[in-house]
Amino acid sequence: MVPRKRNQDCLVVFQPSGRRGYVSQGKSIKAAAREIGVDIEGVCGEKATCGKCKIRIEAGYFDEYGIESRMSNVSQLCEAEGRLLSAQQQHDGYRLACQALIFGDVVVFVPEESRLGKHVMRKVPTERSINLKPAVKKYCIKVVPATLQDNLGDWERLRIELEKRFHLSNLAIDYQVLVSLQRVIRQSNWVVTVSVWMDSEVIKVEPGVVEKGYGLAVDIGTTTLAGYLCDLSNGEVMAADSMTNPQVHYGEDVMSRIGYAITHEGGCQRLNQVIVKALNQIAGRTAAGTGIKRQAIVDATVVGNTCMHHIFLNLDPQYLGKAPFTPSIHHSLNIKARDLGLRISPGAYVHVLPIEAGFVGADNVGALIAEEPYNQDDMTLIVDIGTNGELVLGNRDRLISASCATGPAFEGGEIRHGMRAAPGAVEKIEIAPDTKEVRFKVIGKKRWNTESGDTGAKGICGSGIIDAIAHLVRAGIVDRSGRFITDMETPRLRAADEGPEFVIAWANETSVGHDIVVCQKDVRNIQLAKGAMYAGAKIIMRRLGVERLDRILLAGAFGSQIDKESAALIGLFPDCALENVRAIGNAAGDGARIALLNVDKRAEAERVAKMVEYVELTMEPDFDKTFAEAMWFPHMREGFPHLQHLLHQKGTD
Ligand code: FES
Repeated sequence: MVPRKRNQDCLVVFQPSGRRGYVSQGKSIKAAAREIGVDIEGVCGEKATCGKCKIRIEAGYFDEYGIESRMSNVSQLCEAEGRLLSAQQQHDGYRLACQALIFGDVVVFVPEESRLGKHVMRKVPTERSINLKPAVKKYCIKVVPATLQDNLGDWERLRIELEKRFHLSNLAIDYQVLVSLQRVIRQSNWVVTVSVWMDSEVIKVEPGVVEKGYGLAVDIGTTTLAGYLCDLSNGEVMAADSMTNPQVHYGEDVMSRIGYAITHEGGCQRLNQVIVKALNQIAGRTAAGTGIKRQAIVDATVVGNTCMHHIFLNLDPQYLGKAPFTPSIHHSLNIKARDLGLRISPGAYVHVLPIEAGFVGADNVGALIAEEPYNQDDMTLIVDIGTNGELVLGNRDRLISASCATGPAFEGGEIRHGMRAAPGAVEKIEIAPDTKEVRFKVIGKKRWNTESGDTGAKGICGSGIIDAIAHLVRAGIVDRSGRFITDMETPRLRAADEGPEFVIAWANETSVGHDIVVCQKDVRNIQLAKGAMYAGAKIIMRRLGVERLDRILLAGAFGSQIDKESAALIGLFPDCALENVRAIGNAAGDGARIALLNVDKRAEAERVAKMVEYVELTMEPDFDKTFAEAMWFPHMREGFPHLQHLLHQKGTD
């Protein structure tokens, strides 16, 4: 066991994993878990609003650890815990890990529903045809050896050869490459492979003949990081990897990350360090999976929303959080990987795509160059749904973007039994309009609950909650204003202390030992989130003078998972023919990949980012009214000609 460093240190043991360590007094259990390497759920940025980080203090003497674990070894129950924990839970020793502070040795039990599930790879690369024109090209060259009669410097010798054979003039050389040049050039008897960036700088020299160079395209999402390792000679994705953004421990959404950076000394640097470390893991894992060394990665591109972009670049994000939401820089950047702490080929450049506006970032620019609405006549709405919803509408004439605060509901936050899209999450739900019986499917299980009793359900993720609400509305259990109709003849609908709730999974169908329900507050939180998205879309449609949409493209991992009929039925977006509503996968990540493989697209991204006009929705005079009307299912007033066949059912007329 790690020795106790100071008298004030407390031993914390987490069960069932058995992981333990000493932490200083006054630390929260969640912070201690982070330090010791135990993942505890939480989607509110430790603001004590989600209630997902429940743990239980185990009281008694533990022989094996030689400690007395007492309830009094942690701080008193706070007001938020009083609100979020039931009387029974409080009696049983449950606490919120983010609120309970440690003042003595404790044994902490992490119940299954509070264990952070393994991340599910949902940012898979989309099949796209990309014209190859990488920024880094490799040239194999035999340099004329130096002699007493010809003692030109090694670099000049190499440069002359590159100009003679490949017409590469005015080349510069990376300093670190220069430092190793003499050794490398002699190591392989004057035969070397040179990596040249943008026909202007030698960024790597390797001994002998090396045919392949690799590039890494990275999408830094608020919740999920994704990386695609590509072969620069043919564009093939050699490996894809994703992981939960480790910054979620410091705040679930963009605003709480900005808040963390502002309120904690060295906060921005800490956030920067964790993201760089995570990207290094992705680089290492994808390289290892492909059987190459990470130093073989000679180029990288990065997209991310404005906040992620700033933190990755170690730029203070505080001004993004207040009007006029000014970013530090709009333009794209090329920065040496080593300056950013990225452990790929040290001379490689990292190209960071440009950003559009305060909350519309390089991820959006990535989606634009992937889908190119600016080359089309169709009026296209691109919707990227996450904790922050991003919208772009337009065609070749004009493009308008907006960003709306959807909150964490679509990620399972602020939903009673909500959770991230991880194994155990109910991701698909159907409710029979006549019997009100439920069919559901859980991530990680092949079969629906009706086909197999073993569902292992732990909670409901975003796509599941959208299905649930759409089906509750279709079945007439929830009316269009969002209220439960309480006189239904079904045991699934029942009165609880906080109002009516509908049972999706009975306790015996779950792995958490209690019923999984959708309650009135969940419906309200989804109304708020979807109302914000719809209102945003409506306002930019008005700005463009557009009455109808030709196409809706659902970007992002979440957009790819939701059932478009359910999404349309709850009014997540304005009316559109369902066959023209399409999930486009991780378009932001695809944009990063496209920019990695084709330098012309980098220039195009720069042009498009300047072309997009930004609307600050909260400054729009009619936003509140538009938002209030949009909270209805699917909307208070607007017609949905394309949904008529679904709307003409009980409860939705
Ligand atoms: S209540 Fe603790 S993380 Fe949300």
